[in-house]
Amino acid sequence: MIELAFSILAADFAHLADEIARAERGGGTIVHVDVMDGHFVPNITFGPPVVKAIRPVTKLPLDCHLMIEDPDQFIPAFAEAGANMVSVHVEVCRHLNRTLQHIIDHGMGAGVVINPATPVEMLIEVLPMVHHVLVMSVNPGFGGQKFLPRSVERIAHLRRLREEMGLNFRIEVDGGVAHDTVASVVEAGADMLVAGSAIFEKGKTEKNAREFLRIARK
Ligand code: DX5
Ligand code: ZN
Repeated sequence: MIELAFSILAADFAHLADEIARAERGGGTIVHVDVMDGHFVPNITFGPPVVKAIRPVTKLPLDCHLMIEDPDQFIPAFAEAGANMVSVHVEVCRHLNRTLQHIIDHGMGAGVVINPATPVEMLIEVLPMVHHVLVMSVNPGFGGQKFLPRSVERIAHLRRLREEMGLNFRIEVDGGVAHDTVASVVEAGADMLVAGSAIFEKGKTEKNAREFLRIARK
């Protein structure tokens, strides 16, 4: 199933509950929460208190993308706040296997995220334990950036590895995924599509989500 994981980074933070409801009415099925710490990426967003605040306003799964140094220490707080999935960057985890197990032990789906300049092979050892791999198609830190075209081959590469290894993790893609780029990532094998600026727009969110999914599922 091709799913839209809408990134609330592009939403109006003063009206988060309404924004989530609009994207959900348009067919969005996952809430993507971009957590940034000002160290791993040059931007700061939000953390467990915001996850806790949105938990009661939607039944959709909350997919927390941690762009933070030392994610281990925050895993229990995200679980307690109501997160369903937590993804950590391969670039910051010294003991990646342990960190992913920590996420699983807290009852959440574990994801591993890979930046555009990191070789896909870095993930091989952990592929059997992840719920999903998140392929960054921009350098993380900001919404509204331009999709990096090499990401398409990186997704296809992961799909081949999945087949060769007989696994069934999902492939998520994040950054610059919009109406004009979504078809290429779906064709390459992505099935959890993160989109922020392509979805949230005053008065048009529901329509944007619907149109995005129409193209993605064609
Ligand atoms: C970037 C974030 C993305 C971003 C996507 O660091 O991880 O989730 O918000 O935004 P768009 O869809 O605008 O590229
Ligand atoms: Zn993200």
